[in-house]
Amino acid sequence: MNKLDAIIVENLSKSFKSSKRKKFKNNSENKNNFKIKNNLIKAANDISFKVKEGEIFGLLGPNGAGKTTTIRMMTGVLQPTLGNISIYGYDLWKYSISCKQIMGNVPEMADAYLDLTGFQNLIYIGEIYNISKKERTRKANYLLKKFELYEKKDIKTKKYSKGMNQRLLLCMALMNNPKILFLDEPTSGLDVQSARIIKELIKDYNKQGMTIFLTTHDMEVANELCNRIAIINQGKIINLDTPENLRNLTQKFQAIDCYLEEIVDIKEITSLKAIKDVEFINNRYHIIVDDVNDAIYELIAYFKSKNVKLKQFNTYQPKLEDAFLEIISEEGGLY
Ligand SMILES: Nc1ncnc2c1ncn2[C@@H]1O[C@H](COP(=O)(O)OP(=O)(O)OP(=O)(O)O)[C@@H](O)[C@H]1O
Ligand SMILES: [Mg+2]
Repeated sequence: MNKLDAIIVENLSKSFKSSKRKKFKNNSENKNNFKIKNNLIKAANDISFKVKEGEIFGLLGPNGAGKTTTIRMMTGVLQPTLGNISIYGYDLWKYSISCKQIMGNVPEMADAYLDLTGFQNLIYIGEIYNISKKERTRKANYLLKKFELYEKKDIKTKKYSKGMNQRLLLCMALMNNPKILFLDEPTSGLDVQSARIIKELIKDYNKQGMTIFLTTHDMEVANELCNRIAIINQGKIINLDTPENLRNLTQKFQAIDCYLEEIVDIKEITSLKAIKDVEFINNRYHIIVDDVNDAIYELIAYFKSKNVKLKQFNTYQPKLEDAFLEIISEEGGLY
């Protein structure tokens, strides 16, 4: 059965007036990549994608790529210059209130109400959502416990650390049991413990069926959490796939390192079918391959035929970071 599309984004664009004009090389290769054209910054440039119900979808890109601009449009905070967004089939701008009722939103660098305690903040949000007194108290306590904030629930949030503040913002976003949770850089700048709590709870809520849309510049976060990742650079989506497929896009980092008891002829190894290139560095044969499995079989057979004993054998799979840098550099690099 096909999963429902929780979010459909079509041809979304947002231009901002630029106060400064930046100089760009005016050659034929980059003329379509101008960040500033006619004194306008194209922070989002014809973005389209669909987020399936129940998935964790990540928008991954470097600083200034357009992540916050995109998520702000998707949460109805910022009006697009062009394009459409639908939430469960409803146009976000036409049915703004109904759409927002099923969303939870944690914006980038937001604060809770600083003069209220963590508990009071949640109760206040519960009141806004018209949740009954009994239920909002129950939900607030439940979330505070779940996010390891219960001990600090009666402290004013101006005394909260960044990590505590971020966890409280998540609690606030979850008060209304949203169907879709939007998170702009959920773990950015947090210590390991807060980041871990947040990542585990994102996975947990997703397992219970919640659709999650998040932005991040952190490859590890995207890799760990997301079912699919859209890579954004200079306002454009330049690739969209599963973390695994994105990693596999980059072949050059699939490699095998061998330590051998004897010296072998590099040319002979290079001539094997599955081998692309070989370097001999510090007694180690660094072998670049197309397909790790094929290469392992071929190498073992070759070493056996030559009676060469293996001391050590390591394989390297490409990392998402390698794929990210490769894709971005193919698209003309970072800003
Ligand atoms: N309100 C605004 N007015 C003018 N320019 C803006 C505005 N908001 C964003 N921009 C510009 O749009 C571009 C995209 O910014 P955006 O904040 O969406 O990037 P980002 O990917 O979220 O970056 P970061 O990783 O630093 O959070 C940047 O060049 C930024 O300077
Ligand atoms: Mg941002």
